[in-house]
Amino acid sequence: MFSQRLMCICKNARSFSTTSLKNVKVAVCGASGGIGQPLSLLLKQSPLVTELSLYDIVHTPGVAADLSHIDSKSVTRGSNGPESLKTALSGMEVVIIPAGVPRKPGMTRDDLFNTNASIVRDLVDACAKYCPKALIGIISNPVNSTVPIAAEVLKKNGVFDPKRLFGVTTLDVVRANTFVANAKGLDPQSVSVTVIGGHSGVTIIPLLSQVKPKVEFKSDELSALTTRIQDAGTEVVKAKAGAGSATLSMAYAGARFAISLCRGLKGESNVIECAYVESNVTEVPYFSTPVILGPNGIQKNLGLPSGLSSYEQDLLKSAIPELKKNIQKGVDFVHKK
Ligand code: NAD
Ligand code: LMR
Repeated sequence: MFSQRLMCICKNARSFSTTSLKNVKVAVCGASGGIGQPLSLLLKQSPLVTELSLYDIVHTPGVAADLSHIDSKSVTRGSNGPESLKTALSGMEVVIIPAGVPRKPGMTRDDLFNTNASIVRDLVDACAKYCPKALIGIISNPVNSTVPIAAEVLKKNGVFDPKRLFGVTTLDVVRANTFVANAKGLDPQSVSVTVIGGHSGVTIIPLLSQVKPKVEFKSDELSALTTRIQDAGTEVVKAKAGAGSATLSMAYAGARFAISLCRGLKGESNVIECAYVESNVTEVPYFSTPVILGPNGIQKNLGLPSGLSSYEQDLLKSAIPELKKNIQKGVDFVHKK
């Protein structure tokens, strides 16, 4: 059921966990949704997770009862509605947030702002109060704006630590690995693509000049592949024809990211993921680059990989104005009168 890569992460986690006394308490906010349910299922299978706290405004008792019958060692519990946020979040070390509405065909991610901004604001406000040290991974769109919203809320509460807040962009990496592997006849599990920038359209910048293992692309192939990676979310939205956006691939990507956070928390070395984080590697204050994860969240931001091609430098130039606008929109939302 797991792919080899997630299997491998889980196996590493298993051998690692045998040397450690304490594993990680993880909460999923939006746990009853299209992403939340399969994400929670994948996390329930991880030996790194001691306690899985499922929060949503609907259906969590059922989701938690169902998952709790799985014979893995983590304790699963469900909390329903805002009055249970204290119970849901107290003591949590990792909080993953896929709460909020998904796109329908014809919408941009930014069209979700009006609904999702306040959902993320209120959930992160609760994290600030009940688990201020937790590593928080934001999946809810538009990620380019919801992460700045989360940061401003944490700042307002006096608990912002930029090393502990992440926009989850792992799905862009997973897609890039898959599409490159398909184009070159490789095993997707053996391909590694770095994707930098943000999580929407032109802000998604796959570094196809730096794929491991090394692959070559003709220029038309390069631009077609880049566009496909940038528009992959829309590809799924169109295919689902009104029934939402990517859920299963996102659950896979979200589980990979959450488990990487847990591995870092437990002191495993060299755990690296791309994530959209507070950043000074470009002129915009939030930007996705590879980061090394450790016991306190980001141990080191690896920054912009050196030697970007001129094509990638042009992609970067196009991404910056859009990111600036998206970030400012998030910041303004929290500080509006
Ligand atoms: P969904 O509608 O299936 O599920 C969303 C869940 O959030 C529902 O169960 C809903 O009850 C819950 N929810 C709503 N308000 C809440 C609140 N205040 N507190 C807690 N839970 C609340 O949607 P989905 O398909 O799971 O997508 C969720 C979000 O993830 C969307 O915004 C979507 O755009 C985004 N997404 C992001 C990525 C990414 O790569 N970062 C990928 C796919 C989807
Ligand atoms: C994705 O990339 O699949 C998500 O951001 C969902 C969307 O709206 O495209």
